[in-house]
Amino acid sequence: MKEPFGINRRKFLAKAGAGATVTMIWPFFPSCDTKTSTTAKPELSKDFQPDIDVELKAVQRDLSVLPGPKTKVWVYEAKLIKGNKEALQPLEGSYLGPIIKVRKGQKVRIRFQNDLPEESIVHWHGMHVPERYDGHPQDVINSGETYIYEYKVMNRAGTYWFHPHPHGRTGPQVYNGLAGLLLVTDDEEQLLNLPQGAFDLPVVIQDRTFDEYNQLVYLNNGQMDRMAGFLGNRILINGSPEQTLSLKAGCKYRLRLLNGSNSRIYKLAWGDGNPVIVFGIDGSLLSTPKELPYLMLGPAKRADVWLDLTNKPEGTELTMKNASFPLEVMSGGMMGDGGMMEGAESDLPQGSEYPVFTVLASGSGSNAYTLPRQLANPDYIDPSTAVNLNAPRQFTFAMGHMEWTINGRTWETTEVADEEIVKLGSTEVWKLINGGGMMSDDDGGGMMDGHGMMGDENGMMNNQGMMGNRMQMPHPIHIHQVQFNILERDVANVDPQLWDAIKDGFVDEGWHDTVLLMPGMSAKVIMQFKNFKGLFVYHCHNLEHEDMGMMRNFKIV
Ligand code: C2O
Ligand code: CU
Ligand code: CU
Repeated sequence: MKEPFGINRRKFLAKAGAGATVTMIWPFFPSCDTKTSTTAKPELSKDFQPDIDVELKAVQRDLSVLPGPKTKVWVYEAKLIKGNKEALQPLEGSYLGPIIKVRKGQKVRIRFQNDLPEESIVHWHGMHVPERYDGHPQDVINSGETYIYEYKVMNRAGTYWFHPHPHGRTGPQVYNGLAGLLLVTDDEEQLLNLPQGAFDLPVVIQDRTFDEYNQLVYLNNGQMDRMAGFLGNRILINGSPEQTLSLKAGCKYRLRLLNGSNSRIYKLAWGDGNPVIVFGIDGSLLSTPKELPYLMLGPAKRADVWLDLTNKPEGTELTMKNASFPLEVMSGGMMGDGGMMEGAESDLPQGSEYPVFTVLASGSGSNAYTLPRQLANPDYIDPSTAVNLNAPRQFTFAMGHMEWTINGRTWETTEVADEEIVKLGSTEVWKLINGGGMMSDDDGGGMMDGHGMMGDENGMMNNQGMMGNRMQMPHPIHIHQVQFNILERDVANVDPQLWDAIKDGFVDEGWHDTVLLMPGMSAKVIMQFKNFKGLFVYHCHNLEHEDMGMMRNFKIV
């Protein structure tokens, strides 16, 4: 029996056996810095009157996911203590969920109880909340402990989500099943006639690998997977291997897409060639809907997609597929010819074509929802109000000396560098750069030379493919606490073939909290630091990169 969530080391060694001398010494283990939070855990406050009060318990369960034996998963189980019944909706039978629905201005209390066998903490991805409710890794609680969140919803209407955030364990905890949706609505959205109830549909896209006992397999190629980021060999929709959504012919739908995968990037296109109609992104509705030939959706990103089945006869099937893009650097065959990793995950390589989900128009009905030409008021930040428009703060995400780094630094629980301190009330431009990086020192030697791994004379990973000296990998960059506008993307250093295959799939309008940077790409984003001082994190949302330390604090003073 394999460890349910362990590393399948045997498989790795078997692959590696083909002529290479491989020693698994890899300085990538997350630092086990024992955190001791300096602040006391927040408690129930008497003068906080919540509109919605929820008990949220993280717990291990055995769940039927595939036919046959049950799967060990980690789930959030929720109970509504106070509030409207519609505010809390489980995803029945799924490891995912729940869906929490709130309105801007409401007060939310969450009583998070950790019944996992390890530390955890919940982060509200995309939400503008005070420091102690943000789920900073230093706020992790032990098994059996409770953490109380009490905050007012200040965000715009949008699709937000929540997931664990303990340093070094976010990847496996999310992979085991822990993630839910936090849907925010507001007055502006309520004036529109957008689909509601059963016609407002979550579509959480994840990839997973199961073993022959139906257990989840994480990082089956050990450190190589960690470095590239985990890629599963099948797609799950809303936590189910059933990739068909049975919807009603004659009706219109709002599909709330969330890429909840640890590291997989999607290029989503309708199989019939019709455009993807996007009207919301991360933390906002767009000002007007956009029609795209395909939609690029990096890890952690959300998009609202309009689906109109009014002229579709019953029985129509519409497939949303992943369209291909040339990013072999990330796929299982990334080691190039003769590489030991060849085919390790090739059932579903990154950037290959495969079905993601199928909409089946199964019954018929009608509804009167409409997609207006004007959605949200585009009150975007005026770039001239930034304190550093012409000299943005720069953050380079790169591989440096065998570690994932941001400006050369790696994660330290409470450390902040001078360049990571910003002023409350200020508007800033940050230039986020995917800096690639070198796998070894610049001496031209084998990548792992001097580190005891893979520096064999087969030259397996030397100077070829991604594992040659240049490190080419996408980084989806996420900043806590804020929603930002994307001012520009610089693609001058992006492989033209890759850019050509993806360039029409980015939605850069709107309010974002995550921006996907393909190899060589950089983006300028603008944001305001409002309301709350404190320590927040920014990081790569490839969860394996994050766990390996591609995360830093920034401090609002
Ligand atoms: Cu969705 Cu810091 O994360
Ligand atoms: Cu976040
Ligand atoms: Cu990354």
